[in-house]
Amino acid sequence: MRVVIQDNYQKMCAWAAKYIADRINAHSQDRPFVLGLPTGSSPLGVYAELARMNKAGEVSFKNVVTFNMDEYLGLPREHDQSYWYFMWSNFFDHIDIPKENVNILNGMCEDPEAECAAYEARIASYGGIDLFMGGIGVDGHLAFNEPFTSLTSRTGVRVLTGDTRIVNSRFFGNDPEKVPARALSVGIGTVTDSKEVLILISGHSKARALAASVEGGISQKWTCSALQLHPAAIIACDEDACGELTVDTYKYFLDIEKGERL
Ligand code: GLP
Repeated sequence: MRVVIQDNYQKMCAWAAKYIADRINAHSQDRPFVLGLPTGSSPLGVYAELARMNKAGEVSFKNVVTFNMDEYLGLPREHDQSYWYFMWSNFFDHIDIPKENVNILNGMCEDPEAECAAYEARIASYGGIDLFMGGIGVDGHLAFNEPFTSLTSRTGVRVLTGDTRIVNSRFFGNDPEKVPARALSVGIGTVTDSKEVLILISGHSKARALAASVEGGISQKWTCSALQLHPAAIIACDEDACGELTVDTYKYFLDIEKGERL
């Protein structure tokens, strides 16, 4: 696992955006670059920087196909807290991606099991995901794979924990009851099947999750720890998120990254 520690949130986002743009630009034009994407506050700076790079002609999304991680069950697209709405207003409306290249689970589908199976099949039809960017919750949840979700899980219906509904209630008038109780989410196995995984971890509130992901054992309690089994996982984080790492671990990753820049 590679852990890239940046001074602050802005630098973390700039680093991640450049990494993604470089990957897209290096990709053969024969087939689309398949990019997995998250919602949340963590990726906002990455989306803003990628949109800037797109406008500046530094990267194009014309040959990129995207798959989002998750969506609340029961929220229509037009709801301002649906992840569909989030993605279009914060990213897709600002880049040159063809509309038909965007894939987001449908929270209003009649048959959630069929919706999730079709999503997995659609990912497979592109030969899998080239790079999955993600964020994590304070309890280490990846997409909506809460603690104790199987580390081999596939796309399916997830029940949100009370803690996650409380954390996400900041977007629902601070009322956890207004946060949908269930969501559709890619599985941990769906994410770790991707050729590369890039996870953003920012701020003090994520410090325990970062330490568990990097220093803890592989455990379904911290679903993000499954990244340790991935051959090409990167965590991009900021200094504030490093508060629970041991000094040795922190120094080790800074040391290794100096080598990456040589
Ligand atoms: C939600 C999403 C996750 C996201 C997490 C953290 O629960 N389902 O995919 O990673 O929130 O969000 P934030 O980046 O706002 O802390």
